Amino acid sequence: MKIVFSGPGLPATGVAVVGVLEGGKLLPSAAKLDKKLGGAIKRAIKTSRFNGKDGQSLTVMSPGGSRLDSVLVAGAGKAGHADALSMQKLGGLIYGALGSCGSKAATVLIDSLEKAKISPAEMAVAVAEGARLRSYRFDKYRKNNNNNGNGKPTLSALTIRCRGASKAKAAFQARDKVAQGVFMTRDLVTEPPNVIYPATLAKRCHELTKLRVKVETLGETQMKRLGMGALLGVGQGSMRESKLVVMQWRGLKGRAPKKGPGAKPYQPVCFVGKGVTFDTGGISLKPSDGMEDMKYDMGGSGVVIGLMKALAGRRARVNAVGVIALAENMPGSGAQRPSDVVTSMSGQTIEVLNTDAEGRLVLADALHYAVTRFKPKFIVDLATLTGAIIVSLGDKYAGLFSDNDKLAKQLIEAGQKTGERVWRMPLGKEYDKMLKSDIADMKNISGGRGGGSITAAQFLKRFVGRTPWAHLDIAGVTWTKKDMDLAPKGATAFGVRLLDHLVASHYEKT
Ligand code: BES
Ligand code: MN
Ligand code: ZN
Repeated sequence: MKIVFSGPGLPATGVAVVGVLEGGKLLPSAAKLDKKLGGAIKRAIKTSRFNGKDGQSLTVMSPGGSRLDSVLVAGAGKAGHADALSMQKLGGLIYGALGSCGSKAATVLIDSLEKAKISPAEMAVAVAEGARLRSYRFDKYRKNNNNNGNGKPTLSALTIRCRGASKAKAAFQARDKVAQGVFMTRDLVTEPPNVIYPATLAKRCHELTKLRVKVETLGETQMKRLGMGALLGVGQGSMRESKLVVMQWRGLKGRAPKKGPGAKPYQPVCFVGKGVTFDTGGISLKPSDGMEDMKYDMGGSGVVIGLMKALAGRRARVNAVGVIALAENMPGSGAQRPSDVVTSMSGQTIEVLNTDAEGRLVLADALHYAVTRFKPKFIVDLATLTGAIIVSLGDKYAGLFSDNDKLAKQLIEAGQKTGERVWRMPLGKEYDKMLKSDIADMKNISGGRGGGSITAAQFLKRFVGRTPWAHLDIAGVTWTKKDMDLAPKGATAFGVRLLDHLVASHYEKT
């Protein structure tokens, strides 16, 4: 879909999209169009239950006295409430209503709202961003075109009319790069596990070299040499070779300005992702019902890849490193057994009592590797780590675990701004104790007493040393079974916009 910005004015053809405030007051462009249409909009509102609330919409088909296909009347909510997120959601709603409506072109009319927190140009950018994010489709495997084109979208051009259109156009360019990162994540997470496995996922990372991201892939030989016994144990039941991919974006060259001779290179920020390309549970086999969901068990690594693409795409003024741990968790004669003891790269030994608690095992080595090689400013890891976080938070919040209040606060705030919300969960010695093993330094499950997401986080914490660290358990938010404002059903890419915002608001040099 092409998205263009232009100055104020009414469209002659296609769909016109206008706003109405809660209570039914037409915004200026809506009123102008209504007048031209002989009051058709007001009449339609009067004879419907539409009252301008956020999320509502109303369609006026083929209004007489014009060549318009239709007018979409969108609820703009309360006058003073418009912010970037609400306007993104409005953009998503507009695309949701028009994407497959039959029309090819739509024009959204943005007015200046007196009390709004953002300017018309900013509103236009947000509406465009929301529409773009919602327009995602994965059509790669829909080969026959029966079935009414498989509901393929018809809308191919979206024009947004506002004051300050050229400013909006420039600002949207960076936002569209972030959307491209989101789309890459969604593509990777949606791909089936016979297509995306460690080697092929690693290969996809190499596409980022076009954006000047440095990409390295370690195979099993190199990981063995590094002593990554925890990660390798997870993949040893699979015919697919495990991989570890390192992506580096250097948006800042040279050394940090610091008085005296001790100026150091800019410390990178670092993101680590769980990349279990399929999780059968291994010998601790999962039930077959719902096992197909486990194709998205590489969601954390998918987010790290999309985030690196977003940062590099918009040429963020930051140094960022992404590390993803890729393995397929399969049962088989070579698979690890419940009660195996593995030695991690950090030297700590782990008794594997449940082969289905594999995410923490691959992350243990990836985290230690990232911390020791890059000495980052902070690490955020993302993982579809536990079913227990879905019991706690459902699909509305990701679980946030951190012993660093500053980082936790920044993440919570970024969550509120982007709508990718995180809820902080506790950590503590009492939980750490539950990992005590009878024969090794720790065991990989706590056994029995609840708090499964917390003990999993506690396990990860043992591998990050003193580096400021936060862990996001995204098991409940990575996949959606119904359409959302900013994502059609399927892979959400939850985390890309959250972490892009975190970087943009606190870690980029201005
Ligand atoms: N990948 C799963 C967690 C998961 C569940 C993600 C549902 C997305 C949706 C993880 O590897 C797992 O199996 N966790 C176990 C841990 C348990 C064995 C301690 C779980 O949550 O049951
Ligand atoms: Mn598992
Ligand atoms: Zn898993």
